[in-house]
Amino acid sequence: MSDSDRPYDIVVWGATGVAGRLLAEYLAEQYPPDELSLAIGGRDADRLAAVEADLCAGTAWDAVPTVLGDATDPESLRAIARDTHVVATTVGPYTTYGTPLVEACIETGTDYCDLTGEVNWVRETVDRYHDAAVDAETRIVHSCGFDSVPADIGTLLVQSYATETFGAPCEQVRIYLESASGGVSGGTLASFAELFEAASKDPVARETLRNPYSLAPPGERDGVDRGQQRLARKDRLTGEWTAPSPMAPVNERVVRRSNALLGYPYGREFQCSEVVPTGRSLVGAATSSAVAGGLGLFSAAMSVAPVRSTLRRFVFPAPGEGPSERQIENGHFTVRVLGRGTATDGPFTVEAEFGTDRDPGYGGTARMLGESAMCLLRDEVDSPLSGGVLTPASGIGLPLAERLRAVGFTASVGEASE
Ligand SMILES: NC(=O)c1ccc[n+]([C@@H]2O[C@H](COP(=O)([O-])OP(=O)(O)OC[C@H]3O[C@@H](n4cnc5c(N)ncnc54)[C@H](OP(=O)(O)O)[C@@H]3O)[C@@H](O)[C@H]2O)c1
Repeated sequence: MSDSDRPYDIVVWGATGVAGRLLAEYLAEQYPPDELSLAIGGRDADRLAAVEADLCAGTAWDAVPTVLGDATDPESLRAIARDTHVVATTVGPYTTYGTPLVEACIETGTDYCDLTGEVNWVRETVDRYHDAAVDAETRIVHSCGFDSVPADIGTLLVQSYATETFGAPCEQVRIYLESASGGVSGGTLASFAELFEAASKDPVARETLRNPYSLAPPGERDGVDRGQQRLARKDRLTGEWTAPSPMAPVNERVVRRSNALLGYPYGREFQCSEVVPTGRSLVGAATSSAVAGGLGLFSAAMSVAPVRSTLRRFVFPAPGEGPSERQIENGHFTVRVLGRGTATDGPFTVEAEFGTDRDPGYGGTARMLGESAMCLLRDEVDSPLSGGVLTPASGIGLPLAERLRAVGFTASVGEASE
């Protein structure tokens, strides 16, 4: 079958879940049928039909094709991947359900993007599939949602600006999760729990969480960064108090993988860290300590198997449950990225801002994943890599920022005022 015989441009795999439904709604609202050949996929025909009916009620679409399969049935995944140019998948936890689809996409030469923040699983796909994806010239782009587009593309914006304007990249980049409001779904919490589950059983998963460079290519898993901030600290660049960011373990590793895959354009000594700023006052100091303590306690609790299973059964929302429409529509986020570098005539600071007026994990994430899929589909990609297990910055690059700006995101960059 030649590429032009594939009936679909994009299949949204997992359209009956919280994130998948939002992604399908976003794509169907944004792109009419004469611009995009969209299909939605899942394992339950009735539930898919209900999603399809809702899509058609609110958009220019009269019908959206549905494709059936099961994440545990590789043949069904091959059939789905063979019929489309791009698969955008929200079927998670990816540690449990993700691997056969990655395999199917590589076998059929189908570009792929997802929302995973499960670094243990990314490490597995890096080790098992990167070379095969390179050979097949197939792009497997992980973490195209709130993990890790703002951090990874924000850093790329800063470094591209620094290199063009000052002739040198920044030696140090700090990612600040300035503000965010939204909710969390059962699927996300199940995936988070899966990470702790993997770390309790699998020595490679434990090593992945320990080594700040664990997602870099084999042989390059070492560098100057010592790992994410774990305590409250006063920030050297801004003078504000900062707390550890819950997303730092994912985002920092993704940014380091981007640097490595792109051939170290940020330098071999490049340092990057992500934190949550809490202000300059005593209240800021107390807040950063409280956040650091809370996160530490939560991580410790999640590391204990009986506590983890109790939280999953009785406290976390069930998979399929998510934030309300109100939380999504009234949500927002802003991520600021500051880079500090040295040019021939002295030090400089570059600042990028990345955000939108939708909640980060769902409304914002639907746009980030949807536009990542569109970039892959239209080959709007600024990268020397035509295949591999990639990151947003190394697999797509700045065209993703352009597309997101066009749909209302802020993705600005410039010299920071001192
Ligand atoms: N990076 C980010 O910012 C971000 C944001 C949001 C979500 N996420 C991640 O995205 C993933 C999905 O989250 P969510 O809240 O949408 O979860 P969810 O509501 O539980 O949805 C999971 C989807 O997977 C499907 N599924 C489960 N088992 C399957 C199987 N064997 N075969 C085929 N489909 C199967 C479900 O189908 P049924 O409906 O038939 O059960 C559902 O469509 C999670 O891993 C989460 O961590 C990441």
